[in-house]
Amino acid sequence: MTAQDTTLQEEEYQGRLSLPVWKKLFAYARPYRGHLAGLCATAAVLAVLEAVMPMLSRGVIDAADQARHDLLRLYVLGYAVVVPLFCTCIFAFIRMAARISTGISHDIRKDGFDHLQTLSFSFYDRRAAGWLVARLTGDCDRMSRTLAWGTLDVVWGTGMIIALTAVMLSWNVTLALVVLSTLPVIAWVSMVFQPRILRASRAIRKQNSTITAAYSECISGVRTTKTLVREDENLREFAGKTAGMFDASMHNAVLSAAYFPILMTIGSTGAGLVLWAGGVRVIGGALSIGTLVQFMNSAIMLIFPILEMSRVFADLPNTQAAAERVFGLIDTDPAVKDTPQALAAIAAHRTGGETAGDLAGDGMDRQIRRIEFRDVSFAYLEGKTVLDRFNLTVEPGQTVALVGPTGGGKSTIVNLLCRFYEPTDGQILIDGIEYRDRSLHWLQSNLGIVLQQPHLFSGTVRENIRYGKLDADDAQIERAARLVHAHDFIANLADGYDTDVGEGGNNLSTGQKQLVSFARAVLADPQIFVMDEATSSVDTETEKAIQNGLQAVLQGRISFIIAHRLSTIRQADVICVIDDGRILEQGDHRQLIARRGRYYELYTSQFTEEQTARLLSAGDD
Ligand SMILES: Nc1ncnc2c1ncn2[C@@H]1O[C@H](COP(=O)(O)OP(=O)(O)OP(=O)(O)O)[C@@H](O)[C@H]1O
Ligand SMILES: [Mg+2]
Repeated sequence: MTAQDTTLQEEEYQGRLSLPVWKKLFAYARPYRGHLAGLCATAAVLAVLEAVMPMLSRGVIDAADQARHDLLRLYVLGYAVVVPLFCTCIFAFIRMAARISTGISHDIRKDGFDHLQTLSFSFYDRRAAGWLVARLTGDCDRMSRTLAWGTLDVVWGTGMIIALTAVMLSWNVTLALVVLSTLPVIAWVSMVFQPRILRASRAIRKQNSTITAAYSECISGVRTTKTLVREDENLREFAGKTAGMFDASMHNAVLSAAYFPILMTIGSTGAGLVLWAGGVRVIGGALSIGTLVQFMNSAIMLIFPILEMSRVFADLPNTQAAAERVFGLIDTDPAVKDTPQALAAIAAHRTGGETAGDLAGDGMDRQIRRIEFRDVSFAYLEGKTVLDRFNLTVEPGQTVALVGPTGGGKSTIVNLLCRFYEPTDGQILIDGIEYRDRSLHWLQSNLGIVLQQPHLFSGTVRENIRYGKLDADDAQIERAARLVHAHDFIANLADGYDTDVGEGGNNLSTGQKQLVSFARAVLADPQIFVMDEATSSVDTETEKAIQNGLQAVLQGRISFIIAHRLSTIRQADVICVIDDGRILEQGDHRQLIARRGRYYELYTSQFTEEQTARLLSAGDD
């Protein structure tokens, strides 16, 4: 996680109370309203039981004082009934609160995760992965915790204050007022301390995240550190971070250490006042010893509900901030989605009940034959044009190669074709129809894409290939692997196709990952094949072998191949040299070589480089 992510995760909330956000948050509690009602009832019963306890203690003391065995038995029996009830209530509320918070957390996370999958690439361009993870973990937890445990604390706290007040008033109004006079002071101290303690613990978490990030960066970059001999420098930076952690922790410790003793002092002052005023009454015979003792206990007991409730209230702004961030995410509209026309066509097709294999989900032709980029302009960021009125027509079954310098716009062209982004201006037509009028799912389910940095998921090689077609059998998987020359290396792995590829496929080399993702794309049998530097990390021999197998795969499909190694795209039907978002040259290999332009330059320079390299390596042998 980067420092920026951490800041975003721990940002302080300064806003006002927002009713719509709380309404939305409570909507998530609706499915659990039965549990929530049970939780409130249990909390109320618990509060009453806690107030009944001092009544029993008082009875026991007074009965002992007056040597009344009959009363003593009665009160002890009362204890025997109340204590198991008390324990049952505690069991019930912990269970219910856990059920509610787990359920709500799950529901919010599910909505968030579902929505993340619909969001477009442009959204992910602007959001760091760590930030998104923090939303779906920390923020969701905070929201569900407040709804479940916060409700419990508030109901229990209020119930307990009311019940204790009623009990004390029934004993002696003056003494009750003496005890209650400490309430506002306890509440005021809590309101001063709780937000500060929360702020201090947030500062610790922030420092902690920075240290964790430093650790993880240090571990993942250990090779670079060693090669650059940066160990001492790193240690100095790290020492600075831990010093910050020490300061934050000490500040928090001082606040926490002061808070509780101050509360106890206030409670004890109340108890002392009661002792004095009550002692006078006991001597005068107007008050029993049991009542006096329980008044003192009650003065201390009143601290706890206020302590808990003030913590909940102090945390409410942070919960609201967490909810705003999560709902902001859930409510983000995907930049690329089906247009109203496309949705109407999909709905009409669905109600028509047609299941003809030749039709797409929107009721139009399933086949993709001809693709046309017509005056397409595009900018990732407003004002920074990457493609400027780009034109290209691809005929049925053609293989188009995009070549040219780094940053020229090759990947951008295929990003637009795949509708990961949409043109800012101009049109992309599929068989004469603007592709935004067609179903997004139809287009994207007909694409087979292999990228330079392929992503594999944790699991076996077989599972990763099957990702391209979930109902494929083992024979089909092997056939796809053979076609892209992945079979040999897979067969040599410890468990063959059942070898675990590790997190993100990290147990495999980059070239091997490319081959697996190639097999995955081939298995999906797409209508359009897109290869963006797909074989850049495999050796030239394997690349050549793949090329031979690929001819069969590409037969009859439109394909886009981006490659820096020009020897791999010689067979393409159309080669476009792209620079600065425009086509500089276009034609097949023979035509472009004959033209002696940019392609010729690129090709001959690479050709001689390759030749030299081959000669040198032959010399080594
Ligand atoms: N997600 C993005 N957000 C903003 N700008 C981007 C983004 N992706 C690419 N660009 C910019 O768009 C331009 C074209 O990038 P593109 O990835 O299409 O180049 P490319 O031809 O594929 O280069 P390479 O050969 O290095 O892969 C570059 O200037 C790049 O900085
Ligand atoms: Mg690229």
